[in-house]
Amino acid sequence: WDKRPLGVWRYKELLPVHGEPVTLQEGGTQMYHLKRLGEEMGIPHLYAKHEGMNPSGSFKDRGMTVGVSMALQLGKKSVACASTGNTSASLAVYAAKAGIPAVVLLPAGKVAVGKVAQALMHGAKVISIRGNFDRALEMVHDLCLSHGLYLLNSINPYRLEGQKTIGFEAVDQLGGVPDRFVLPVGNAGNISAVYKGLLELQELGFIDRLPMMTGIQAAGSSPVVRAVRENLPEVVPEMQPETVATAIRIGAPVNAEKALTAIRKTGGLAESVTDEEILRMQRDLARKEGIGVEPASAASVAGIRKLAEMGMIDRDERIVCVVTGHLLKDPDTVIKQCEPPTEIDANLPSLLSALHL
Ligand code: F0G
Repeated sequence: WDKRPLGVWRYKELLPVHGEPVTLQEGGTQMYHLKRLGEEMGIPHLYAKHEGMNPSGSFKDRGMTVGVSMALQLGKKSVACASTGNTSASLAVYAAKAGIPAVVLLPAGKVAVGKVAQALMHGAKVISIRGNFDRALEMVHDLCLSHGLYLLNSINPYRLEGQKTIGFEAVDQLGGVPDRFVLPVGNAGNISAVYKGLLELQELGFIDRLPMMTGIQAAGSSPVVRAVRENLPEVVPEMQPETVATAIRIGAPVNAEKALTAIRKTGGLAESVTDEEILRMQRDLARKEGIGVEPASAASVAGIRKLAEMGMIDRDERIVCVVTGHLLKDPDTVIKQCEPPTEIDANLPSLLSALHL
């Protein structure tokens, strides 16, 4: 194992694909020590695993390399998904690599421009529905049942098989199990996938304990947090989820039950963060650590800042925050937060004056 490079296929014995996978060398993403932010928060062992460094710029590629490989293995001729954006971008990329057509359903007006650009450029048939993600998922589910397209949302178990490698890699990179694993939660697939992976590592005897699985949601879209906080037996859907972090604007997460198990069985936590807290952390990661992520991704680290301030976590814990998607996915939200460039006449005095020199 040690001779194989980091990445999803390093762990192929623990994945369901036989034969050659459809791959673009996903995984093997950077694990950064958040030195400056960690110092500010009083958490010396704070890490970010930058899943935005995958081929299409999000962790979805880990799921899609396995999901699309399985589609071929099962003899499927076309693939489909509903998406808040990243899943559609990733599916378009892997369907292109596999040479099969893809259909993606997006909530109209609520998908970041970089993600739509990717889905279009890689050749998916892109449909915008006048409705939210939860409705898009119901529709694509019906379409796949009636017309035989292969559904590649995270209800598809093979997607989660690929995504569980985030946990494997983190253990490999840290040389052991972190105390806490923190993920932004939307449809709740990723936190469930990482939990499953770590459980397998424990069952196989590679690790002797599990990290506290911690899920962070946006305040305007936080049904899982509510279920954990109020100790509900199951998640109650929210009808009108809203957040600047459009990637996790999901009111009825399909993997909610698995996520509750992951959080509860490991003594983990669930917390929500406001849009303001998310955007502040997006800027802090960018400016204090040099790490560019999209808003949903900043939610995991923003959640840790909040939990630390609330005294809910031990500051000596070794914590891995998954930051899930790249900054350039959502340039509009970036531009809105920043001063525009200073435009000047093309001469040196104007330059010096603009720099106050
Ligand atoms: N972060 C980003 C950047 C995402 O795109 C998503 C989900 C999540 C976090 C949450 O992951 O759903 O497994 O809990 N995006 C999906 C999509 C829903 O369609 O791209 P989750």
